[in-house]
Amino acid sequence: MSSQDARSTIRPGEARDVDALASLQASVQLQAVTRGTPHPGIAAWVHDLLDGHPSVTPDDFLVADETATGRSVASLVGLRQYWSLAGVRLPVAQIELVGTAPQHRGNRLTEQLFATLHRRYAADGVPLQMIEGIPYFYRRLGYDYALANDGAPTVPATALPDARPYSTTGRLTVRPATVADADALAAIDRELAAGDAWSCPRDAAVWRYEIAGRRPTDIARRAVAVLVHSAEVRGYLVYSPRLSATGELIVVAAACRQPADWPQAAPVMHDHLGEAGRQHAGAGNQTFTALRPLLDPGHPMVRFGPPGIPRRPRGWYVRTGDPADLLARLQPLLQARWRAADLRWPEPALTIDTYGHAARLEFTDGQLTAITAGRGTTSPSTDAATHAAIPPAALLHLALGHRTLPELLTTWPDLLLRDRRTEHFLAAAFPAVPVRLWPRN
Ligand SMILES: CC(C)(COP(=O)(O)OP(=O)(O)OC[C@H]1O[C@@H](n2cnc3c(N)ncnc32)[C@H](O)[C@@H]1OP(=O)(O)O)[C@@H](O)C(=O)NCCC(=O)NCCS
Repeated sequence: MSSQDARSTIRPGEARDVDALASLQASVQLQAVTRGTPHPGIAAWVHDLLDGHPSVTPDDFLVADETATGRSVASLVGLRQYWSLAGVRLPVAQIELVGTAPQHRGNRLTEQLFATLHRRYAADGVPLQMIEGIPYFYRRLGYDYALANDGAPTVPATALPDARPYSTTGRLTVRPATVADADALAAIDRELAAGDAWSCPRDAAVWRYEIAGRRPTDIARRAVAVLVHSAEVRGYLVYSPRLSATGELIVVAAACRQPADWPQAAPVMHDHLGEAGRQHAGAGNQTFTALRPLLDPGHPMVRFGPPGIPRRPRGWYVRTGDPADLLARLQPLLQARWRAADLRWPEPALTIDTYGHAARLEFTDGQLTAITAGRGTTSPSTDAATHAAIPPAALLHLALGHRTLPELLTTWPDLLLRDRRTEHFLAAAFPAVPVRLWPRN
């Protein structure tokens, strides 16, 4: 796959691109932090992605070469992964390292790279793309804020006790993970994948990579600790291996295999994080100011931990090329939710039109049996066979559990439902879903 205009060619990455892409990305990312010098953590990350990463291959990168010189002047990478909810595995690509050399900006290279990427994912059946990035910018490329991330209170370092009362008295302790823990960590993720929050499960090979596979300076490297009871691994904790410039220790994931462990696990985890923060501060001659959990405010580690300073949740951008296809991927989830609510649809089909595409949900004896994606009608709001007309972005919010139907009905006048029964069915199909994602990078 390659595309071309007069000044540039877009092509998949290759292993030989590693030095050029490391140098390009290190010189454009996080320049406010480095005050204009290349970022070594970004360079190391590009090297890791192109050498030994468990799921990325060089052609997951897209590169724009300047036609006149052959120099690579813009690139990005899509990291393929699966997210899980109640046992449903959803193919997702997280876009990272979007960057254009300063003298080539404004030439629509980023727009072209994204257009190529979206065509690729449409062909490969990857229905969801996600990116964390510049506020508003990716809206222009078809993305919308339809997943919350963050929002847990910041815990001041002073609220984390110096002594370790819980660890000495409790059954559970926390210690740094080793590669020998990878199977147990993967088993925990398999259980979380069946749960009622979005998760991004890692298998044992990926856990080994997270624990010991990355270059030390890779900006995406995290510290992994395990929650143990005797020799049994019962949970995990993932956090940044250094303090931020403002002295914060960032937590990106925390999990317990058994929810009943949380009341005891949360204080033990906070003890561990307090100790880690103080050690990093000592080693880096910094002040440890606070713990910053990038977790949802309802996360059990937060609820059972010390109180902190409330934070407004942030959002991840997501996009789907075809919301009806996304819905079709979630069919087992909808089936299970209607069954749990004891709801049976009385007609042979329920049609959801997204003003362009349409999803036809087919039923036998009231049970959902198939979802097919097709073209929408010209005027779904007046079409007698359409049960619901839902703007694509609103359906994305609904499908991911980011907003419930009652919330959307108050803010989207063009979300139209044929009758109360349709409203009742769709409200039951799409509850709010917590986001417990530590995306693969
Ligand atoms: C952001 C970036 C990738 C855009 O690349 P580009 O190839 O110039 O993008 P395009 O030519 O396709 O689009 C340019 C448009 O984006 C806008 N834009 C660029 N940077 C922006 C920013 N930080 N915030 C908002 N808009 C921005 C430009 O103003 C321009 O708008 P216009 O169409 O109204 O003139 C590039 O500026 C860059 O490499 N920045 C540094 C690295 C970075 O921040 N990467 C993104 C990490 S999420």
